[in-house]
Amino acid sequence: ATIREFRQTLLAWYDREGRDLPWRHDQDPYHVWVSEIMLQQTQVQTVIPYYLNFMAMFPTVADLAQAPEEQLLKAWQGLGYYSRARNLQRAARQLVDDYRGKWPQTAAELLDLTGIGPYTAGAIASIAFGEVVPAVDGNAFRVFSRLLLIDADIAKPQTRKLFEQVIQPIVDPQRPGAFNQAIMDLGSSYMTAKNSDPAHSPVRAFDASYRENCVADFPVKTKA
Ligand code: ADE
Repeated sequence: ATIREFRQTLLAWYDREGRDLPWRHDQDPYHVWVSEIMLQQTQVQTVIPYYLNFMAMFPTVADLAQAPEEQLLKAWQGLGYYSRARNLQRAARQLVDDYRGKWPQTAAELLDLTGIGPYTAGAIASIAFGEVVPAVDGNAFRVFSRLLLIDADIAKPQTRKLFEQVIQPIVDPQRPGAFNQAIMDLGSSYMTAKNSDPAHSPVRAFDASYRENCVADFPVKTKA
């Protein structure tokens, strides 16, 4: 099983069965960004109506930068973790004031925006700008720890770097954004935390944990 075969199998499945989600309709960095921030602590089905309403209320980065705080918090009401909304507006103001409305286009530069960490930077850079970088969230930890039997403890802060280094050369160089989103979809269908179904996964031929009957042992996570 080669990396090329893995990419091809994963992306063919994603093209057939990837989820049709409102923020996947284009590659606008604003759309990718807002959706990724909402999805950090909130499930996809809950996020969808909030995302659509948010875009109706604040269609551009400039609209978000100028929004009255009460409107912003009202649009966020029910999503929780209000610091996410405040950080979104701070970053929108940075984009307008410091970047003159022109998005930084690499994951490394995106980290300078308030509220954008390594995962979100990787997601925006790959999906909106085509940078060949991984987007390492809980889904990526789960999927790749199982596929490759990586037993590093995901509760340890330094483990993210290890996964980034392992995943980096596997990311599809032609379609990095689709690759990362396909991993998210795998992580919420056949390769979930509970009730996963590795026997029917499109990438089961590449799944060492399935082959060795130890799916439930991954990812390794010590209790806090
Ligand atoms: N979870 C985090 N980011 C996501 C995305 N872009 N699509 C679906 N689920 C996600």
